Amino acid sequence: MEKHVAVVGSGNMGSCISKICALNARSSTEFCNEVRIWVHEELIGEEKLSDIINTRHENVKYLAGTRLPENAIAVTDLAELGSWADILIFVLPQQFLPRVLAGLKGHTRPGACAVSLIKGVFAGQEEEPMPRGLSLLTDLIRSNLGMECAVLMGANLAPEIAKEVYCEATLGCRDPIRAAELKRLFQTPYFRISIIENEFSVEICGALKSIVATGAGFCDALGFGDNTKAAVIRLGFMEILRYVQRFYGSAGVTKRTLMQSCGMGDIISSCYNTKDVKWAATHDGSGPLGMHDLVTTCYGGRNRKLGEAMVLTGKPLRQLEKEMLDGQRLQGPLIAAEVHRALQEEGQLQRFPLMVAVHLICSGQMKPQDFIEQLREHPEHM
Ligand code: 13P
Repeated sequence: MEKHVAVVGSGNMGSCISKICALNARSSTEFCNEVRIWVHEELIGEEKLSDIINTRHENVKYLAGTRLPENAIAVTDLAELGSWADILIFVLPQQFLPRVLAGLKGHTRPGACAVSLIKGVFAGQEEEPMPRGLSLLTDLIRSNLGMECAVLMGANLAPEIAKEVYCEATLGCRDPIRAAELKRLFQTPYFRISIIENEFSVEICGALKSIVATGAGFCDALGFGDNTKAAVIRLGFMEILRYVQRFYGSAGVTKRTLMQSCGMGDIISSCYNTKDVKWAATHDGSGPLGMHDLVTTCYGGRNRKLGEAMVLTGKPLRQLEKEMLDGQRLQGPLIAAEVHRALQEEGQLQRFPLMVAVHLICSGQMKPQDFIEQLREHPEHM
């Protein structure tokens, strides 16, 4: 029986992955031709975003300029979507996940599975005691929906995928048959998928790299050179490895994962995403970009970009989120706060100076100018 594919989220990456899945479904007998995209409804002028997607086949707010296939259908009813879907692909900001899961809970099909593209960690509710270490978003999906959850992450800046520029992604999936099926759903000539079994390691790399990217943004703003940024990336890499070994032991990230797109690839792409100027200069090489394209483009590499803007403008993070991300919350500072909490509980702050400094700067407890100072006595150099 043909599998029903649903994408939960319609931001820039949600739109990109919907386009990929809809095109693959169209030429397959394995997946239902219709791919549904869950849209958090909003008005664009007088029109509903879901109506715009279904009539103009373009997400004019979050991925303007990219035509979506006609078999990618926008829907707004979560319970109905859950009852229809065999494969639920989660791609939305982490802070919306609990609400979305509440809408899906009790409305899923037997045998359905999930895939998460969300790079983040669960920060929990304030009144709940948090577990040791970080809580995974996929665990939240698994426990709420009672289904398996694979992970798809990598150096995947949505504006580039939308333009079909070659890239790679890592699929973490413990079931080899399901992994092969998901690869057939996601892979295209320009979006190449490698499979590894360790789902956890793919997810944790995708979350922790945002802290490093924020630090890289500080570095850019402070005028340090490429040597310094390379050091920040390497030290960040080593702190990710150290963090996972400390909290998760041998079940954690292996060197194999770190060499994947979800590890090394994602850190590098997030820290070096300085292409906005180039993307902004031309549209298909033919003229100036429209405002929508420019806004969409600026969503790529948000952590580095806002890290840089925080230092250059001195504006508070929340204000920059409003001005530059249309009110979206930046993930790097949220994740850095969670990591800081976990490290503090374990008395481990001094072993992770980079991640700690990013948190202290984002929360206004340290001057950005002191960032590199924190790295001079890094445990990696002792
Ligand atoms: P940001 O979350 O910093 O925009 O990074 C996007 C990304 O993860 C691309 O791989």
